[in-house]
Amino acid sequence: MADDDSRSGLRYTDPALLGWLDDLHAGLDPALRQAFEAPGQQGMPAIQVGRSEGRLLSLLTRLIGATKAVEVGTLAGFSAIHIARGLAPGGHLWSIEYDPHHAEVARANIAAAGLSDRVTVLVGAGQDVLPTLAGPVDLVFIDADKEGYDAYGRWAAANLRPGGLLLADNANYFGKLLDPERAGAAAVRRLHEEARDAFDTVCVPTPDGLLLGIRR
Ligand SMILES: C[S@@+](CC[C@H](N)C(=O)[O-])C[C@H]1O[C@@H](n2cnc3c(N)ncnc32)[C@H](O)[C@@H]1O
Repeated sequence: MADDDSRSGLRYTDPALLGWLDDLHAGLDPALRQAFEAPGQQGMPAIQVGRSEGRLLSLLTRLIGATKAVEVGTLAGFSAIHIARGLAPGGHLWSIEYDPHHAEVARANIAAAGLSDRVTVLVGAGQDVLPTLAGPVDLVFIDADKEGYDAYGRWAAANLRPGGLLLADNANYFGKLLDPERAGAAAVRRLHEEARDAFDTVCVPTPDGLLLGIRR
């Protein structure tokens, strides 16, 4: 039964079908819509996770009862709002963003979502800021510079509690994961390879791959 398309898990690419599913399962309330549309409106790249991936982040956060979460790559706060909404009562998300303008927009969107007390946006490079955060944490979501993915994965392995969840977007590196010439691809490949030492892993076939690992 398997053919090339079904092996990739990406058999259905009809925009109308995917839009119908997004509308049904991952509708945007005003706060999410504001964060989703902010990049396009405020001179930022529109590279946030898709609607269904955002919803998946929220449900996974809830599923593991997370109280402490860390994100690398905030942009306008779309994924951060999803994660924060999935946290258990009293939970907190630290989200790291290199670009001060992105961080400012994200803080405004997070405030509009009523989540300022649950989310701290930290401005700086992931590799500088992560060492200032103390584990153990329950969830780490990686969605920033691809060249840093392997280092972010090592921080996650050292700081996630047993049973904690590692998630990394763009795990297929825009379809170029196996390209030997690209430094970003090599770092994402290292993340995949090293994660298997500390996590039970799978690469979920979202549009650009979502690496999922449970800390052993
Ligand atoms: C793909 S976007 C994040 C999207 C966001 N997670 C969402 O789905 O709503 C990547 C973000 O990472 C930021 N970034 C790039 N290099 C970084 C670094 N070294 N450390 C932290 N953030 C970085 C970019 O400025 C950008 O805002």
